[in-house]
Amino acid sequence: MRRRVSLATPNQDSLTASPLQAAAGSLYTGDPTLDSSLSRRCLVVDDEPRLRQALVRLMRGDGFICLEAGSGVEALALLETEAVALVLSDMRMPKMDGQELLRNLRIRYPDVAVVMITAVAEVEVAVACLSLGAMDYITKPFVFEEVRARVAQALEKRRLLADNRDYQERLEVRVKAQAERLETLFLASIQSLADALELKDPYTRGHSVRVSQYGVAIARAMNLSTTLTAQIELGGHLHDVGKIGVREEVLRKAGPLTNEEYEHIMTHPVLGWQILQPLLGDNPVALNIVRSHHERIDGRGVPDKFAGDDIPLEARIIAVADAFDAMMSKRPYRNGLTFTEAMAELRRVAGTQFDVNVVDAFFEVARNEAFIPDDSGETEAIKLRAPTR
Ligand SMILES: [Fe+2]
Repeated sequence: MRRRVSLATPNQDSLTASPLQAAAGSLYTGDPTLDSSLSRRCLVVDDEPRLRQALVRLMRGDGFICLEAGSGVEALALLETEAVALVLSDMRMPKMDGQELLRNLRIRYPDVAVVMITAVAEVEVAVACLSLGAMDYITKPFVFEEVRARVAQALEKRRLLADNRDYQERLEVRVKAQAERLETLFLASIQSLADALELKDPYTRGHSVRVSQYGVAIARAMNLSTTLTAQIELGGHLHDVGKIGVREEVLRKAGPLTNEEYEHIMTHPVLGWQILQPLLGDNPVALNIVRSHHERIDGRGVPDKFAGDDIPLEARIIAVADAFDAMMSKRPYRNGLTFTEAMAELRRVAGTQFDVNVVDAFFEVARNEAFIPDDSGETEAIKLRAPTR
């Protein structure tokens, strides 16, 4: 027979009749993801001592370690030092009512299952509590079996939520690890392309890395976003990859090029773009750099004869970085320019070959960045590192 408890002190025998084992089987559903001792701890909050004690006895009789509080304020103070898996809370209490306590619990202790205890007349409020995150509610006067069932359900729900969250977290960690692995593999394949080019054309050794770093410095001086700057770094690293498709005798020629040879070399922007398009489809900035770093502001560049702002900014940046490094590099048939000479040349052709704003930005960084060589020829070694996307 179902026993209803109102304000009368419950019969102690009936409350303790439920053995701990039964409690473990009904109330305590087992909780492999949480500390098992924690999942047996609960807090009963009620300003009415007799009802509170009735619930406390029931819970203790079912194997719970049961704390009690006479108000919402007291409950929150207690939870500062005591951990519980479950809170059974009355709705009407002075100072802080059950709904307010529930709001606080959801914010501060989201893993705690909360079951509200309400008078029948408060059912609408109790339903509102469900939308605030209560696991369930029990109406007064309550029946012990019903309390047991609701508590067991609440704890089971809490366990499932915790399992689900752990699963999501594990999944997120796996997905993140796989994304990082893919990124590493991607960068390795890109790096191997750059390495292949350096093997084929020893004069470009270090060139791509320096161009990339100069490009990053210019991008920062121009206050570009970190995302765009990272893409410029990658594009700078790869800008000459198309030279893989250039004949070796032309690439390594120790003397001035014929017109035919020059035209052959200048196919490398489009070749690089074709090679990288399948790999960098989601990175148009880097692709723009590869294709358009030999365009000129006056529209006389290659391959598309873009002029002015039609040339993507990232390509205008790498064009300046590329030219500066090329002018500073020694070739078998010529010495490199000094820093002063190279900067003077950049200034001379700013507005026809290069974007004036980019040249201005490069002048600014060239004075401040120790890794950019000056007339003494001394630089801070550029740290070689994998390009970022
Ligand atoms: Fe180039």
